[in-house]
Amino acid sequence: MSADIYREQILDLARNPVNHGTLDPHDASYQDTNPLCGDRVRIDLRISDDDVIDDIAFSGRGCAISQAAASLLTEMALGKTVTDAGAISNDDMLDELGVEISAARIKCALLGLHVLRVALDEYTRSGSTSTEVTTSEGA
Ligand code: FES
Repeated sequence: MSADIYREQILDLARNPVNHGTLDPHDASYQDTNPLCGDRVRIDLRISDDDVIDDIAFSGRGCAISQAAASLLTEMALGKTVTDAGAISNDDMLDELGVEISAARIKCALLGLHVLRVALDEYTRSGSTSTEVTTSEGA
């Protein structure tokens, strides 16, 4: 597939994202902001007793790459165990996007993954979390 088609898919996904919304109640939730631009991603998760991600949703606002990446990430994580979802790497996320991401846009592409990792880390440590912050290191 050409880069143009991938780019078009990202724009489509940003306009019509999969798994967009919030989950109430949830077992884990985290929100963070890209400090460079103020764009924001929140991820909510429902996690079964055997640590499988049964439901996941993201919300927020930001550039097409950040929102499309967060949407793709929810599909990558759904059905995985907490451990396996926590092992999704930066390269996995960038591969899934399928387009060349410039150094300046890496934080956009990885914001959702950063949020997912913190949510899962806090869940693992405490069993259930809901945390919101407005500034941090971002991705
Ligand atoms: Fe803000 Fe991409 S420009 S996350």
